[in-house]
Amino acid sequence: MTTDAQILTALRAADAGGVSGAELSQRFGISRAAIWARIEELRMLGYDISASPHLGYRLVSAPDLLHADDLTARLGKTKVVGRDLRVFQETTSTNDVIEKLARDGVKEGVVVFAETQTKGRGRLGRKWASPARNGLWFSVLLRPDLRPQEATRLTVAAATALARAIRRVARVTPQIKWPNDILIGGKKVVGILTEMSAELDRVRHVILGIGVDVNLNAGDFPAELRKLATSLKIESGAAVDRAELAAVILRELDADYARVIGGRFAAVADEWEAQCLTLGRNVTVDLGGRRIQGYAESLDEDGTLLIRTQHGRLERIIGGDVTLEK
Ligand code: BTN
Repeated sequence: MTTDAQILTALRAADAGGVSGAELSQRFGISRAAIWARIEELRMLGYDISASPHLGYRLVSAPDLLHADDLTARLGKTKVVGRDLRVFQETTSTNDVIEKLARDGVKEGVVVFAETQTKGRGRLGRKWASPARNGLWFSVLLRPDLRPQEATRLTVAAATALARAIRRVARVTPQIKWPNDILIGGKKVVGILTEMSAELDRVRHVILGIGVDVNLNAGDFPAELRKLATSLKIESGAAVDRAELAAVILRELDADYARVIGGRFAAVADEWEAQCLTLGRNVTVDLGGRRIQGYAESLDEDGTLLIRTQHGRLERIIGGDVTLEK
């Protein structure tokens, strides 16, 4: 952990009580002057840190920006997800950054956030708008010991973790549309783009690319999306603390990743099914050239959607665009 992350962790732990410069200096083995210099740097970034002879340093408020040290401090200890956190002010796509890190052999768990993306990608070759400082645009590198056909489990786990985090922080009720959209009141608020590199029988790495529309106003969405997309701010009626939400999402992702690789996917799938909009509905799946119509019956043990067609055949769906019939 960097000194700034250690200082922010200590300030958050002290809460309203404050912590003295002498204590910080002793704990981290650096001079009080060096602590003061770090505090000044954090203030320059917008952290409101008060200093008083009696209470010591106290974190009054944090700015609305993503800062790797602050995210690390908020996150605390995780098993895998977020062990290494990086924040870019701008990048093409966070999935591209992670892809490069994966090829360079970086350990799983690294997370890359960007305040804005110039070439954000959605599923099925679509573009993903990533307006600066309004959302969470980030990607996670995982190296699970799974077969390629089991990788959908990770998307299902990510959706479950995101739904839990959103419920907790924004206090709204999300629903999941297979495999990876999170909706509120029928409008999309989160998209997940899962990209994978694999050999025939073994996953090399998986990139979970996640876009959360956090504090966008209706006018921030392109006109053609306004009926289909929404934000947590619009739905909850108040701006959401992006850094807090980011930390909760990563903690929940870490927990669900542990469930998947620990052989407990069934529990994740049960939680997913309880919030799923797709199951028990007649759907059309567009597979890019081929369409399948039928009744969305269940999820199998790989996270695949099972659809019963009108001819009684069971189709296994691992990708594509699902439309819910009225
Ligand atoms: C979808 O089509 O629903 C998936 C959208 C995924 C968007 C996220 S934003 C962070 C990451 N980087 C990208 O370029 N895409 C994903």
